[in-house]
Amino acid sequence: MNTNHPAPTDRLRRPIRDLRISVTDRCNFRCTYCMPKEIFGDDYAFMPKSELLTFEEIERLTRLFASIGVKKIRLTGGEPLLRRGMPDLVSRIMKVDGVEDVGLTTNGLLLGANAQPLHDAGLRRLNVSLDALDPELFGRLNGRGIDSAQILRQIDQARQVGFEVKVNMVVQKGANDGEILPMAAYFKERGITLRFIEFMDVGNDNGWSFKRVVTKKEIFDRLQAVHELEPVDPDYFGEVASRYRYKGTDTEVGFITSVSESFCSSCTRARLSSNGIFYTCLFASSGFDLRAMLRGGAGDEEILGAIVDVWESRSDRYSDERTEQTAKNRKKINMSYIGG
Ligand code: GTP
Ligand code: 5AD
Ligand code: SF4
Ligand code: SF4
Repeated sequence: MNTNHPAPTDRLRRPIRDLRISVTDRCNFRCTYCMPKEIFGDDYAFMPKSELLTFEEIERLTRLFASIGVKKIRLTGGEPLLRRGMPDLVSRIMKVDGVEDVGLTTNGLLLGANAQPLHDAGLRRLNVSLDALDPELFGRLNGRGIDSAQILRQIDQARQVGFEVKVNMVVQKGANDGEILPMAAYFKERGITLRFIEFMDVGNDNGWSFKRVVTKKEIFDRLQAVHELEPVDPDYFGEVASRYRYKGTDTEVGFITSVSESFCSSCTRARLSSNGIFYTCLFASSGFDLRAMLRGGAGDEEILGAIVDVWESRSDRYSDERTEQTAKNRKKINMSYIGG
C-alpha cells in the first residue's frame, strides 16, 4: 500500500506494534470476573450482527495498522470461536504485508472441529484460558458448569494438530489460589507454558480489590518452594509476560503482572472492538469509531490519518496509576467487549 505515514509514536514515545482484535462480544462462559451471570443474563443485549465489523473491514483495518508498524495480531473476544468462519479471517490476516505473528485467545471449548481448519489457515499459536483443574471449582468459575477435563482434552488435541498452546490462569485470592501448584505440576509435566495472570480491575462489575490479587511474588514463592526456576530473556520489546524456565527443562512458566509490576512504559498495544472502535488502553473509557469512517466511505489515507492522530495523542498508562479509587471510580469498558 502506498502511504506517506512514518511509524507514529505516542506521547510517551511508544510505537504501535500489536493489535488485539475482538471479533465478538459474546461468550459461552460466564466467568465470574469477566461476564458475571447476574449482569450478562438471558436478556443481556449483545451486539447485533450488523454492528460487527465484517471480515473485509477487519482485513482492511489490519492492512492500515500494519502499514504504520503493527506486526502482531491477536484475535480475541468474548469467545472468538463463536464467530463463524474464523479460518477465513485468519488466512486473510496472515496475508497482510507486515504481519509477522497471529495468535488467538480462547476458552478452548469450541476448539474441536475448528482446530484443524485454523491450522490449515496458518494459525500456529493458541492461548487457552483455564483457571482451575478441579472440575467442581472450574465449573463454578466459568459460570456454566463446564468440566476442566473437556478443556484439557481440547488442549491435547490442538497440540496434536500442531499448535503451540499456552495456558492462561487468572489467579484470585480465596477462589483458585489453591490451584497454583496443581496447575503448575500438570502443565510442567506436559511441557506446556502456563501463565499466571494477576487479577485485574477490568470492566465495572468484576468485584476487584487489591485484597483479591495474588501477586507474582506470592505465586513465585510458592512455585520456588517446589520447582527451581531460572529467568528467560524477553523475546521482544514490550512482551507482556515475564518468563522463567523450570531448571533442567525447556518448559516455561510466565507471570502477567499488570497490578504488582505494571508494564505500561513499554505498552505498544492497540485494541479494536468487534464493532470497530479503536482503543488505546485496556482500561480506556472511550475510543475512536473507525467503523463510522469505514461505512461512511472514507478512503485509506483518511482512515490512516485518523489512526495516526489517535496514536500520537495517546498517553494511557492506567496500570501505572491504579489505586483502589481509580479501580472503583473510573468508568471502564467490559473486557468481553474490548478484547482482553
Ligand atoms: P502472547 O502473544 O502469547 O504473549 O499473548 P498475550 O499474553 O499478549 O495475550 P493474551 O490474550 O493471552 O493475554 C494474556 C493476559 O494479558 C490477559 O489477561 C490480558 O488481559 C493481559 N494483557 C494483554 N495485553 C495487556 C495490556 O496491554 N495491558 C494489560 N494491563 N493487560 C494486558
Ligand atoms: N483480570 C485478568 N485477566 C483477565 N482475563 C479476563 N478477565 C480478566 C481479569 N479481570 C483474561 C482471560 C483470558 C485473557 C484474554 O484475559 O482469562 O485468558
Ligand atoms: Fe468468556 Fe474469556 Fe470472559 Fe471467561 S474470560 S467470560 S471465557 S471472554
Ligand atoms: Fe497498556 Fe493500558 Fe495495559 Fe498499561 S494498562 S499496559 S497502557 S493497555
